[in-house]
Amino acid sequence: MAKDENRKELAHPEYWNQRYASAEKESKDGSAAMASFEWLRTFANLRPFFEKYLPAASIGYHILHLGCGNSTLTADLYALGYTNQTSVDFSQVVIDAMIMKHSNLNTCWLVMDVRDLQLPDASIDVAIDKGTLDAMIHGSLWDPPDDVKDNVGKYANEVARVLKPGGQWFSIT
Ligand SMILES: C[S@@+](CC[C@H](N)C(=O)[O-])C[C@H]1O[C@@H](n2cnc3c(N)ncnc32)[C@H](O)[C@@H]1O
Repeated sequence: MAKDENRKELAHPEYWNQRYASAEKESKDGSAAMASFEWLRTFANLRPFFEKYLPAASIGYHILHLGCGNSTLTADLYALGYTNQTSVDFSQVVIDAMIMKHSNLNTCWLVMDVRDLQLPDASIDVAIDKGTLDAMIHGSLWDPPDDVKDNVGKYANEVARVLKPGGQWFSIT
């Protein structure tokens, strides 16, 4: 496991901007789209879970991706008919890359901190986190440091605020 000091960095946009800028440089000629990187599980692994728990695409529910990174999840769900999606991340670098890469999708990509969601109350049906909560956690799980309690508390309050009554929060961690 990474040293605690290293894990702490994951809660800061500077870390992610640098990481995604390196990923961009590694793309073949600089103009190619940033390659995707999938944390924890691929869509193929998760598909049975989504098929079981996500409401049918035809309902048109609004899905919010919390810390979308350069995952394929938004595009994969779009291909299944989930066209009403908003994907947010606090890394400007990755959001710029995703806007360019997925210009064919009619979805919304926004630079936004999940601890301070610039979205109206009760506006989201399904919120999905894959690996974002993990990026906020370091130190002891039994006695978390103050910054972890503060970040996780703000995040949970914001998700609760933007979810409609009866809305769902999927946390893949
Ligand atoms: C471990 S990666 C997971 C990326 C993607 N969800 C996936 O499954 O591949 C965590 C992502 O969360 C973003 N992130 C971390 N803290 C955030 C915050 N407070 N607000 C918005 N995005 C955040 C990072 O920029 C990074 O893209």
